[in-house]
Amino acid sequence: MPGDAGRPAALMARDVSVRYGPVRAVREASLTVGAGQAVALIGETGSGKSSLAFAVARLLPRSARVTGRVEIAGTDVLAADWRRFRGERARLLGCVAQDAMAALNPVLPVGRQVGELFAVHAGMGRRQAAAAASAALASVRIDHPEAVARLYPHQLSGGMRQRVMVAMALALRPPLVVADEPTTALDVSTQAEILGLVAELRERVGSGLLWITHDIGVVAELADWAAVMYAGRIVETGPVEAIFDAPAHPYTEGLLLTRRDLRSGAPGSPLFQIPGAPPARPDEAPGCPFMPRCPRATAVCAAREPPLLPLAGRGEAGHQAACHHPAPPGAPPAPAPARARTAAP
Ligand SMILES: Nc1ncnc2c1ncn2[C@@H]1O[C@H](COP(=O)(O)OP(=O)(O)O)[C@@H](O)[C@H]1O
Ligand SMILES: [Mg+2]
Repeated sequence: MPGDAGRPAALMARDVSVRYGPVRAVREASLTVGAGQAVALIGETGSGKSSLAFAVARLLPRSARVTGRVEIAGTDVLAADWRRFRGERARLLGCVAQDAMAALNPVLPVGRQVGELFAVHAGMGRRQAAAAASAALASVRIDHPEAVARLYPHQLSGGMRQRVMVAMALALRPPLVVADEPTTALDVSTQAEILGLVAELRERVGSGLLWITHDIGVVAELADWAAVMYAGRIVETGPVEAIFDAPAHPYTEGLLLTRRDLRSGAPGSPLFQIPGAPPARPDEAPGCPFMPRCPRATAVCAAREPPLLPLAGRGEAGHQAACHHPAPPGAPPAPAPARARTAAP
Protein backbone atom coordinates (compact mmCIF):
# COMPACT_ATOMS: atom_id res chain seq x y z
CA MET A 1 0.00 0.00 0.00
CA PRO A 2 1.24 3.48 -0.78
CA GLY A 3 1.69 6.32 1.67
CA ASP A 4 4.38 7.90 3.75
CA ALA A 5 6.60 5.15 5.14
CA GLY A 6 7.71 7.28 8.07
CA ARG A 7 4.26 7.69 9.62
CA PRO A 8 1.67 5.09 10.57
CA ALA A 9 -1.20 4.72 8.10
CA ALA A 10 -3.93 7.33 8.56
CA LEU A 11 -6.45 4.50 8.50
CA MET A 12 -6.09 0.78 8.62
CA ALA A 13 -9.36 -1.17 8.53
CA ARG A 14 -9.18 -4.97 8.57
CA ASP A 15 -12.12 -7.29 7.97
CA VAL A 16 -14.64 -4.76 9.19
CA SER A 17 -18.23 -5.97 9.20
CA VAL A 18 -21.34 -4.02 10.18
CA ARG A 19 -24.66 -5.62 10.96
CA TYR A 20 -28.02 -3.99 11.67
CA GLY A 21 -30.00 -6.90 13.09
CA PRO A 22 -30.18 -9.38 10.22
CA VAL A 23 -28.90 -6.89 7.62
CA ARG A 24 -25.19 -7.26 6.90
CA ALA A 25 -24.40 -3.80 5.57
CA VAL A 26 -20.61 -4.28 5.41
CA ARG A 27 -18.89 -7.62 5.02
CA GLU A 28 -15.20 -8.06 5.86
CA ALA A 29 -14.04 -4.83 4.29
CA SER A 30 -10.34 -4.00 4.46
CA LEU A 31 -9.03 -0.60 3.52
CA THR A 32 -5.82 1.34 4.08
CA VAL A 33 -5.33 5.09 3.78
CA GLY A 34 -1.60 5.80 3.92
CA ALA A 35 -0.36 8.86 5.79
CA GLY A 36 -1.29 11.89 3.70
CA GLN A 37 -2.89 9.73 1.02
CA ALA A 38 -6.30 10.31 -0.62
CA VAL A 39 -8.48 7.24 -1.12
CA ALA A 40 -11.88 7.23 -2.79
CA LEU A 41 -14.56 4.78 -1.70
CA ILE A 42 -17.04 4.41 -4.56
CA GLY A 43 -20.38 2.63 -4.86
CA GLU A 44 -24.10 2.99 -5.42
CA THR A 45 -26.43 4.11 -2.67
CA GLY A 46 -26.98 1.26 -0.23
CA SER A 47 -23.63 -0.43 -0.89
CA GLY A 48 -22.47 0.17 2.70
CA LYS A 49 -20.12 3.13 2.27
CA SER A 50 -21.54 5.22 5.11
CA SER A 51 -21.80 2.21 7.39
CA LEU A 52 -18.08 1.55 6.88
CA ALA A 53 -17.20 5.22 7.41
CA PHE A 54 -19.32 5.50 10.54
CA ALA A 55 -17.86 2.25 11.89
CA VAL A 56 -14.37 3.67 11.45
CA ALA A 57 -15.36 6.79 13.38
CA ARG A 58 -17.38 4.85 15.98
CA LEU A 59 -20.38 6.94 15.10
CA LEU A 60 -22.86 4.13 14.43
CA PRO A 61 -26.00 3.73 16.54
CA ARG A 62 -25.79 1.26 19.39
CA SER A 63 -28.00 -1.17 17.52
CA ALA A 64 -25.26 -1.71 14.93
CA ARG A 65 -22.83 -4.55 15.53
CA VAL A 66 -19.29 -3.90 14.35
CA THR A 67 -16.51 -6.48 14.14
CA GLY A 68 -12.98 -6.32 12.78
CA ARG A 69 -10.08 -4.03 13.49
CA VAL A 70 -9.68 -0.30 12.89
CA GLU A 71 -6.59 1.80 13.53
CA ILE A 72 -6.36 5.53 12.97
CA ALA A 73 -2.73 6.69 13.01
CA GLY A 74 -1.89 3.65 15.11
CA THR A 75 -4.71 4.09 17.64
CA ASP A 76 -6.92 1.02 17.97
CA VAL A 77 -10.36 2.58 17.54
CA LEU A 78 -12.75 -0.28 18.23
CA ALA A 79 -10.89 -1.57 21.28
CA ALA A 80 -10.45 1.87 22.86
CA ASP A 81 -12.46 2.75 25.94
CA TRP A 82 -15.57 4.50 24.62
CA ARG A 83 -15.39 7.65 26.76
CA ARG A 84 -11.72 8.12 26.15
CA PHE A 85 -12.12 7.60 22.44
CA ARG A 86 -14.95 10.13 22.28
CA GLY A 87 -12.67 12.70 23.87
CA GLU A 88 -9.89 11.95 21.40
CA ARG A 89 -11.96 11.54 18.26
CA ALA A 90 -11.69 15.12 17.02
CA ARG A 91 -7.92 14.92 17.20
CA LEU A 92 -7.82 11.62 15.33
CA LEU A 93 -10.28 12.31 12.57
CA GLY A 94 -12.29 15.08 11.02
CA CYS A 95 -15.63 14.33 9.42
CA VAL A 96 -17.31 16.18 6.58
CA ALA A 97 -20.88 14.92 6.34
CA GLN A 98 -23.32 15.07 3.47
CA ASP A 99 -25.82 17.10 5.46
CA ALA A 100 -24.07 20.06 7.08
CA MET A 101 -27.35 21.36 8.46
CA ALA A 102 -27.76 18.17 10.50
CA ALA A 103 -24.09 17.97 11.49
CA LEU A 104 -23.79 21.54 12.79
CA ASN A 105 -25.40 22.72 16.00
CA PRO A 106 -28.38 24.90 14.98
CA VAL A 107 -28.37 27.04 18.13
CA LEU A 108 -24.68 28.02 18.20
CA PRO A 109 -23.01 30.60 15.94
CA VAL A 110 -20.60 28.78 13.62
CA GLY A 111 -17.56 30.64 14.98
CA ARG A 112 -18.31 29.29 18.47
CA GLN A 113 -18.54 25.75 17.08
CA VAL A 114 -15.17 26.03 15.38
CA GLY A 115 -13.69 27.83 18.41
CA GLU A 116 -14.87 25.12 20.77
CA LEU A 117 -12.62 22.62 18.99
CA PHE A 118 -9.60 24.79 19.79
CA ALA A 119 -10.78 25.47 23.33
CA VAL A 120 -11.43 21.82 24.18
CA HIS A 121 -8.63 20.11 22.27
CA ALA A 122 -5.90 22.74 22.07
CA GLY A 123 -6.50 24.30 25.49
CA MET A 124 -7.01 27.80 24.10
CA GLY A 125 -8.71 30.58 26.02
CA ARG A 126 -11.86 32.24 24.68
CA ARG A 127 -10.19 35.07 22.75
CA GLN A 128 -7.46 32.91 21.32
CA ALA A 129 -10.00 30.26 20.25
CA ALA A 130 -12.16 32.92 18.57
CA ALA A 131 -9.13 34.20 16.64
CA ALA A 132 -8.18 30.64 15.64
CA ALA A 133 -11.78 30.04 14.52
CA SER A 134 -11.68 33.12 12.28
CA ALA A 135 -8.38 31.97 10.81
CA ALA A 136 -9.87 28.52 10.18
CA LEU A 137 -12.86 30.09 8.41
CA ALA A 138 -10.52 32.26 6.35
CA SER A 139 -8.54 29.13 5.39
CA VAL A 140 -11.65 27.74 3.64
CA ARG A 141 -11.91 31.05 1.75
CA ILE A 142 -14.79 32.51 3.70
CA ASP A 143 -14.67 36.29 3.27
CA HIS A 144 -15.20 38.46 6.36
CA PRO A 145 -14.66 35.48 8.70
CA GLU A 146 -15.26 37.51 11.89
CA ALA A 147 -18.71 38.49 10.65
CA VAL A 148 -19.55 35.00 9.39
CA ALA A 149 -18.40 33.53 12.73
CA ARG A 150 -21.35 35.28 14.41
CA LEU A 151 -23.94 33.71 12.09
CA TYR A 152 -26.00 30.60 12.80
CA PRO A 153 -25.93 27.63 10.38
CA HIS A 154 -29.37 28.43 8.95
CA GLN A 155 -28.15 31.90 7.96
CA LEU A 156 -25.51 30.41 5.64
CA SER A 157 -25.86 29.00 2.14
CA GLY A 158 -25.35 25.24 1.63
CA GLY A 159 -21.91 25.83 0.16
CA MET A 160 -20.88 28.06 3.08
CA ARG A 161 -22.06 25.49 5.63
CA GLN A 162 -20.02 22.86 3.82
CA ARG A 163 -16.98 25.15 4.03
CA VAL A 164 -17.52 25.51 7.77
CA MET A 165 -17.56 21.73 8.11
CA VAL A 166 -14.36 21.44 6.08
CA ALA A 167 -12.77 24.05 8.38
CA MET A 168 -13.88 22.08 11.44
CA ALA A 169 -12.72 18.74 10.03
CA LEU A 170 -9.22 20.06 9.38
CA ALA A 171 -8.95 22.49 12.32
CA LEU A 172 -6.99 20.16 14.59
CA ARG A 173 -4.87 18.85 11.70
CA PRO A 174 -6.05 15.26 12.22
CA PRO A 175 -4.22 12.35 10.57
CA LEU A 176 -7.49 11.32 8.88
CA VAL A 177 -10.38 13.19 7.28
CA VAL A 178 -13.51 11.27 6.27
CA ALA A 179 -15.76 13.01 3.77
CA ASP A 180 -19.07 11.21 3.18
CA GLU A 181 -20.50 12.52 -0.10
CA PRO A 182 -20.01 16.08 1.09
CA THR A 183 -20.93 17.67 -2.23
CA THR A 184 -23.99 15.65 -3.18
CA ALA A 185 -26.52 18.30 -2.13
CA LEU A 186 -24.66 21.17 -3.80
CA ASP A 187 -24.92 22.63 -7.29
CA VAL A 188 -22.19 21.65 -9.73
CA SER A 189 -20.02 24.78 -9.49
CA THR A 190 -20.13 24.75 -5.68
CA GLN A 191 -19.24 21.05 -5.76
CA ALA A 192 -16.14 21.82 -7.80
CA GLU A 193 -15.13 24.58 -5.39
CA ILE A 194 -15.48 22.32 -2.34
CA LEU A 195 -13.55 19.52 -4.08
CA GLY A 196 -10.70 21.87 -4.90
CA LEU A 197 -10.70 23.27 -1.41
CA VAL A 198 -10.54 19.89 0.30
CA ALA A 199 -7.76 18.73 -2.02
CA GLU A 200 -5.70 21.85 -1.37
CA LEU A 201 -6.24 21.91 2.38
CA ARG A 202 -5.53 18.29 3.04
CA GLU A 203 -2.28 18.62 1.15
CA ARG A 204 -1.34 21.63 3.24
CA VAL A 205 -2.31 19.90 6.49
CA GLY A 206 -0.97 16.48 5.46
CA SER A 207 -4.11 14.57 6.48
CA GLY A 208 -5.05 11.28 4.92
CA LEU A 209 -8.41 11.50 3.20
CA LEU A 210 -11.18 8.94 2.77
CA TRP A 211 -13.53 10.44 0.18
CA ILE A 212 -16.83 8.63 -0.18
CA THR A 213 -18.84 9.09 -3.34
CA HIS A 214 -21.29 7.45 -5.71
CA ASP A 215 -19.90 9.65 -8.51
CA ILE A 216 -16.84 8.05 -10.06
CA GLY A 217 -16.36 11.22 -12.11
CA VAL A 218 -14.82 13.16 -9.22
CA VAL A 219 -12.45 10.39 -8.17
CA ALA A 220 -9.67 10.99 -10.69
CA GLU A 221 -9.34 14.61 -9.63
CA LEU A 222 -9.03 13.88 -5.98
CA ALA A 223 -7.68 10.46 -5.10
CA ASP A 224 -4.51 8.40 -5.57
CA TRP A 225 -6.19 5.15 -4.65
CA ALA A 226 -9.73 3.84 -5.11
CA ALA A 227 -11.88 1.13 -3.57
CA VAL A 228 -15.15 0.08 -5.18
CA MET A 229 -17.87 -1.23 -2.90
CA TYR A 230 -20.78 -3.43 -3.93
CA ALA A 231 -23.40 -5.03 -1.69
CA GLY A 232 -21.29 -4.51 1.44
CA ARG A 233 -18.00 -5.77 0.03
CA ILE A 234 -14.99 -4.15 -1.52
CA VAL A 235 -14.98 -5.70 -4.99
CA GLU A 236 -12.05 -3.85 -6.57
CA THR A 237 -9.22 -1.75 -5.22
CA GLY A 238 -6.03 -0.28 -6.59
CA PRO A 239 -4.25 2.85 -7.80
CA VAL A 240 -6.71 5.24 -9.46
CA GLU A 241 -4.94 4.99 -12.85
CA ALA A 242 -5.17 1.20 -12.78
CA ILE A 243 -8.87 1.28 -11.91
CA PHE A 244 -9.62 3.84 -14.62
CA ASP A 245 -7.38 2.48 -17.36
CA ALA A 246 -7.89 -1.23 -16.78
CA PRO A 247 -10.90 -1.95 -14.57
CA ALA A 248 -11.15 -5.64 -13.77
CA HIS A 249 -14.56 -6.04 -12.11
CA PRO A 250 -17.63 -5.73 -14.37
CA TYR A 251 -19.26 -3.48 -11.78
CA THR A 252 -16.33 -1.04 -11.98
CA GLU A 253 -16.56 -1.17 -15.77
CA GLY A 254 -20.23 -0.26 -15.48
CA LEU A 255 -19.48 2.62 -13.13
CA LEU A 256 -16.92 3.94 -15.59
CA LEU A 257 -19.49 3.80 -18.37
CA THR A 258 -21.77 5.99 -16.27
CA ARG A 259 -18.91 8.48 -16.09
CA ARG A 260 -18.02 8.42 -19.75
CA ASP A 261 -21.60 9.06 -20.62
CA LEU A 262 -21.71 11.97 -18.20
CA ARG A 263 -18.73 13.57 -19.89
CA SER A 264 -19.58 12.95 -23.54
CA GLY A 265 -23.37 12.73 -23.40
CA ALA A 266 -25.27 15.29 -25.41
CA PRO A 267 -27.65 17.41 -23.34
CA GLY A 268 -30.72 15.45 -22.45
CA SER A 269 -29.27 12.05 -23.40
CA PRO A 270 -30.25 9.39 -20.91
CA LEU A 271 -27.36 8.47 -18.62
CA PHE A 272 -26.11 4.92 -18.74
CA GLN A 273 -27.27 2.86 -15.82
CA ILE A 274 -26.16 -0.59 -14.82
CA PRO A 275 -29.31 -2.67 -15.30
CA GLY A 276 -30.88 -4.20 -12.21
CA ALA A 277 -30.37 -3.38 -8.56
CA PRO A 278 -28.09 -4.65 -5.78
CA PRO A 279 -29.47 -7.58 -3.79
CA ALA A 280 -31.26 -6.63 -0.60
CA ARG A 281 -29.68 -9.52 1.34
CA PRO A 282 -26.44 -10.36 -0.47
CA ASP A 283 -25.33 -13.06 1.98
CA GLU A 284 -28.43 -15.20 1.53
CA ALA A 285 -27.35 -16.65 -1.82
CA PRO A 286 -24.01 -18.49 -2.04
CA GLY A 287 -22.76 -16.86 -5.24
CA CYS A 288 -21.43 -13.51 -6.34
CA PRO A 289 -23.88 -10.74 -5.40
CA PHE A 290 -23.25 -9.01 -8.74
CA MET A 291 -24.14 -12.11 -10.75
CA PRO A 292 -27.75 -11.15 -11.64
CA ARG A 293 -26.46 -7.94 -13.25
CA CYS A 294 -23.27 -9.33 -14.73
CA PRO A 295 -22.67 -9.80 -18.47
CA ARG A 296 -19.84 -12.30 -17.81
CA ALA A 297 -21.51 -14.54 -15.23
CA THR A 298 -21.09 -18.32 -15.49
CA ALA A 299 -21.94 -21.31 -13.31
CA VAL A 300 -19.07 -20.72 -10.89
CA CYS A 301 -20.48 -17.25 -10.12
CA ALA A 302 -23.70 -18.81 -8.87
CA ALA A 303 -21.84 -21.38 -6.80
CA ARG A 304 -19.46 -19.29 -4.74
CA GLU A 305 -18.65 -15.70 -3.92
CA PRO A 306 -15.26 -14.69 -5.33
CA PRO A 307 -12.63 -13.51 -2.82
CA LEU A 308 -10.73 -10.24 -3.28
CA LEU A 309 -7.42 -11.30 -4.87
CA PRO A 310 -4.43 -9.67 -6.55
CA LEU A 311 -4.80 -9.60 -10.33
CA ALA A 312 -2.22 -11.79 -12.02
CA GLY A 313 -0.16 -10.35 -14.83
CA ARG A 314 -0.85 -6.69 -14.13
CA GLY A 315 1.82 -4.07 -13.74
CA GLU A 316 0.05 -2.13 -11.00
CA ALA A 317 0.95 -3.33 -7.52
CA GLY A 318 -1.99 -3.59 -5.18
CA HIS A 319 -4.68 -3.86 -7.87
CA GLN A 320 -7.17 -6.44 -6.59
CA ALA A 321 -10.61 -7.61 -7.63
CA ALA A 322 -13.26 -10.00 -6.32
CA CYS A 323 -14.38 -11.59 -9.58
CA HIS A 324 -14.24 -15.06 -11.10
CA HIS A 325 -13.84 -13.48 -14.54
CA PRO A 326 -11.84 -10.27 -14.19
CA ALA A 327 -11.27 -8.39 -17.44
CA PRO A 328 -7.77 -9.11 -18.78
CA PRO A 329 -5.51 -6.04 -18.93
CA GLY A 330 -5.94 -4.12 -22.17
CA ALA A 331 -9.41 -5.60 -22.70
CA PRO A 332 -11.86 -3.62 -24.82
CA PRO A 333 -14.37 -1.50 -22.90
CA ALA A 334 -17.10 -3.21 -20.91
CA PRO A 335 -19.83 -4.94 -22.90
CA ALA A 336 -22.90 -2.99 -23.88
CA PRO A 337 -25.42 -2.72 -21.07
CA ALA A 338 -28.15 -4.23 -23.24
CA ARG A 339 -26.37 -7.59 -23.04
CA ALA A 340 -26.58 -7.69 -19.26
CA ARG A 341 -29.08 -10.19 -17.97
CA THR A 342 -32.19 -9.12 -16.20
CA ALA A 343 -32.09 -9.54 -12.46
CA ALA A 344 -33.15 -12.88 -11.06
CA PRO A 345 -36.44 -12.78 -9.15
N1 LIG B 1 -29.24 2.55 11.05
C1 LIG B 1 -29.54 1.57 10.18
N2 LIG B 1 -30.38 0.57 10.55
C2 LIG B 1 -30.68 -0.42 9.69
N3 LIG B 1 -30.18 -0.53 8.45
C3 LIG B 1 -29.34 0.42 8.03
C4 LIG B 1 -28.97 1.52 8.86
N4 LIG B 1 -28.11 2.31 8.18
C5 LIG B 1 -27.95 1.72 6.97
N5 LIG B 1 -28.68 0.59 6.88
C6 LIG B 1 -28.72 -0.35 5.71
O1 LIG B 1 -27.41 -0.74 5.44
C7 LIG B 1 -27.16 -0.81 4.05
C8 LIG B 1 -25.99 0.10 3.68
O2 LIG B 1 -26.36 1.45 3.89
P1 LIG B 1 -25.31 2.64 3.86
O3 LIG B 1 -24.12 2.28 4.68
O4 LIG B 1 -26.02 3.89 4.22
O5 LIG B 1 -24.89 2.66 2.32
P2 LIG B 1 -24.37 3.86 1.39
O6 LIG B 1 -23.73 4.89 2.27
O7 LIG B 1 -23.42 3.21 0.44
O8 LIG B 1 -25.58 4.40 0.69
C9 LIG B 1 -28.48 -0.41 3.38
O9 LIG B 1 -29.16 -1.61 3.06
C10 LIG B 1 -29.19 0.35 4.45
O10 LIG B 1 -30.59 0.24 4.29
MG1 LIG C 1 -24.09 6.92 2.42
